[in-house]
Amino acid sequence: MKRVLFNIILFSIAFLYIGNTKAGNCNILLGFDNINAHGGNIIKYENFYYLFGENRNNKGVVKNINVYKTSDFCSWTFSGNAFYSNNNHNIGASGIIERPKVIYSVSKKRFYMYFHHELPNTGYNSALIGVASSQNIVGPYKYIRSFRINPGVLPRHTKNINELKYSDFFKRDFHKGQMSRDLTVYQEGGDVFLISSSEDNSTLIVSQLDSTLANLNGNYNRISPHGYNEAPILFKEGNTYFLITSGVSGWKPNKAKLYKSKNLLDDWVYVGTPIRSSKSNINTTFGGQGAFIFKYNMDDYIFLDSWDSENLSKSNILIKKVYWENGNPYLK
Ligand code: DGJ
Repeated sequence: MKRVLFNIILFSIAFLYIGNTKAGNCNILLGFDNINAHGGNIIKYENFYYLFGENRNNKGVVKNINVYKTSDFCSWTFSGNAFYSNNNHNIGASGIIERPKVIYSVSKKRFYMYFHHELPNTGYNSALIGVASSQNIVGPYKYIRSFRINPGVLPRHTKNINELKYSDFFKRDFHKGQMSRDLTVYQEGGDVFLISSSEDNSTLIVSQLDSTLANLNGNYNRISPHGYNEAPILFKEGNTYFLITSGVSGWKPNKAKLYKSKNLLDDWVYVGTPIRSSKSNINTTFGGQGAFIFKYNMDDYIFLDSWDSENLSKSNILIKKVYWENGNPYLK
């Protein structure tokens, strides 16, 4: 009798646990509601996938970067604050940290986190790239530095600043360095590139990091000058690079854009919108703004933030599978 009772209790506990983790209903495309990790990325390390993202409080402010882990995209474990703001360094408690992206450097055997950093009380005008690093994937990440990009350096193949199109903001910031807001990071072998919204969000800039991984090496280019792009997602398929971006409309969703190139640092071409769906889904990118792309079971998926502009902490995450036709990616 005791044994039967024990089995009933065990069965009930197991049932409750399964119920809570969506098992049986587990589908990566469901997205998730209770995860506070926005604008970030996922990296696979050993047997787990780690999701990093902005932890927004109910005033919408990001005080730290959350990390969650999963092996199956069904059950997620909160693994703590990977990186947090405090008053002891430039990451002032009233500053802004957005769009964290984590990579692993094989040569340094360390994890590096890059993020959009605004100093306290500067609104969105300091426009810096912040760098932090950790030996453990879940942190704590130690702050290294923040900087404007490419001060006093002209883009590739440019001899004179007057050759550049739409260069008012570029010229304004030439000596102190260009702005860097929404960003992503792209790794190819030992080379690491940062792609960020610059020049008052009018132009994207792709810059190569030097071997310290905390500084740029001066090799960079402007993408889509005056194209007004945010939320860049960069990936490679075959020998072509693709860039999916949003337009610029604050926290309100807009139409996604697709660009492609054979060379990361040159010649990007606008393809069109990568969304195939109803007019309203095309115009709002399914109500989301892209954060990052990653591979799971041989397929590519894009994570989008479905921002709740009234209360950013209530924003959701949308997940869309990437489909291909005639060599171009699309979402449906
Ligand atoms: C949209 C961006 O993509 C977000 O990361 C954030 O910078 C907001 N704009 C700020 O308005």
